[in-house]
Amino acid sequence: MIYDDYIALQKLLDCNKPRAGVKYALEESFFIRIHHIHEINFAQILLDLKSFDAKLITSTLQQKIDQLHRILACWKLNINTLKLLEFLDKEAFLGFRPSLMGISGMQSSQYLLWVELFYKTADRYNHQAINHPGILSIFQSIHASHNDWLVAHEEVILHFIQNDYGTGDTEGLRYMHEQRNHYDTLWNEILTGLNKVI
Ligand code: HEM
Repeated sequence: MIYDDYIALQKLLDCNKPRAGVKYALEESFFIRIHHIHEINFAQILLDLKSFDAKLITSTLQQKIDQLHRILACWKLNINTLKLLEFLDKEAFLGFRPSLMGISGMQSSQYLLWVELFYKTADRYNHQAINHPGILSIFQSIHASHNDWLVAHEEVILHFIQNDYGTGDTEGLRYMHEQRNHYDTLWNEILTGLNKVI
């Protein structure tokens, strides 16, 4: 077997299918690739999060720290990946955007699962009899990184569509503010629960 087959390179590259026609194909393909990079990261994050949870009792402290650091590193990569959008041509984006109506990042099944699992897992860990402040602090950093990604995403929205509705038919920026507040509330509830346990 050779490298290209080992990583199923052709299959991976074939997943990039711009829809809006030749005029916008180069920019739309760049836009799709930025989403693909995110989704590959989400997949890794979910694997690590599920494994962390499954081995909550059996893994060592160091293994837990290493696993959470990897999730954190993937979120930092997502923040950098989003920065690629600075190099997406705005006029071209607005040109191919109508072909995205009904399609939105808010439907990302892996992202939705991330939200569901992350706050649950952090809460479950904090209710363990032997929870460690070092682990809590990495959970805090992951939550902060998710928040930083959301802030960067709001800047992207402002740059490309200002106060327009999203392709997912929400109020765009305003909706995203509410989402960010919601994740902060979830995190603060975990901290409050922790204080009760202590
Ligand atoms: C030009 C680039 C982008 C614009 C203008 C944009 C715009 C928006 C808007 C307006 C929303 C609110 C929902 C809606 O009505 O559609 C949204 C949600 C979302 N977008 Fe984007 N987006 C962009 C790029 C990306 C990228 C690269 C990703 C990577 C996965 C992404 C992931 C998401 C996610 C996960 C949500 C839901 C977030 C949550 O509810 O916490 N977006 N986006």
